[in-house]
Amino acid sequence: MALQIAERFRSLVRGDFRILAVTELLMKHHEYVPVEEIIRFSRLRDDEVRYRLRGLSRDRLIVSAPKTLPTGRGYLLTMLGYDALALRVLVDRGKVEAVGKPLGVGKESDIYEALDGRGGRCVVKFHRLGRTSFRQTMKKRGYAAGRTHISWLYQSRLSAEREYSALKTLHKVGVSVPRPIAYNRHAIVMGVIEGTELKFAEMEDPESIMLEIFRNVRVAYLRAGLVHSDLSEYNILVKADGKVLIIDWPQSVSVDHPNAGENLRRDVCNIIDCFERKARISLGEDAALEYVTGKRRTLAGQSSILRPHLRP
Ligand SMILES: Nc1ncnc2c1ncn2[C@@H]1O[C@H](COP(=O)(O)OP(=O)(O)O)[C@@H](O)[C@H]1O
Ligand SMILES: [Mg+2]
Repeated sequence: MALQIAERFRSLVRGDFRILAVTELLMKHHEYVPVEEIIRFSRLRDDEVRYRLRGLSRDRLIVSAPKTLPTGRGYLLTMLGYDALALRVLVDRGKVEAVGKPLGVGKESDIYEALDGRGGRCVVKFHRLGRTSFRQTMKKRGYAAGRTHISWLYQSRLSAEREYSALKTLHKVGVSVPRPIAYNRHAIVMGVIEGTELKFAEMEDPESIMLEIFRNVRVAYLRAGLVHSDLSEYNILVKADGKVLIIDWPQSVSVDHPNAGENLRRDVCNIIDCFERKARISLGEDAALEYVTGKRRTLAGQSSILRPHLRP
């Protein structure tokens, strides 16, 4: 997939991007965008558009309708096509120079290592909401998949916007998160973190790592007004020096959201459970909740190491 994006991207020319952009725009009004409309709006020559559509379709940046429409052939942008449009803007703006190998494939995102505009390393995260449901709909309903598809593009873009805006706020108030660099459509560019997911991290001093996580949850709550809402041992990266970073913020909600309290409790419990399992540290849920919401000044003295059960 990584090479697919990188290689395809390099061979695309201005006319291809024009056609992708016009297809994206017209998808708001068509289940599948008729070729005639693409020709009209792209203001390219008829034979050039047909030639480029064949190439884009062969390389899976667009797909054609399973059946011929009354208006002739029709096309939709694919995930790869949407990636290409987002990347093009990020490259034009000097935020990204090249996309490299995949760092992770989540359920709702694909993450790639990349070079930023200044030759440094960065990460590009493509949000992919409804990826599996889109494939299923395409298989089952074929022609009628267009609506679902638009909603997929829209949801992915919203998700990226939400995450980028959360990262901006969190970074500003000093929560330990990746540095937000730029975003376009469903893609976010951020600083790269050399670390291991907490789930797999080996910790010399687990207690101080746990306290550091709660300190960050507290700053997010009190100074950014945000509750992560998907906090788990997979969304915390631990660096070799023990520094922690909290990632994956698209589901975050404001502290005055009706679900904020419930989400915060779940976030806090996930961390308590993780350290109990991994390091046999015990910490009360109420004390942790009071601390992260500012009702208690410190967690010092609240945690204890569980003794292994002694056999009689
Ligand atoms: N800024 C980053 N630097 C390094 N690795 C990252 C970064 N962001 C994400 N990752 C890796 O990619 C994985 C998935 O990212 P995440 O933001 O959690 O997306 P998802 O919603 O798919 O879980 C993470 O668990 C982590 O291993
Ligand atoms: Mg995640």
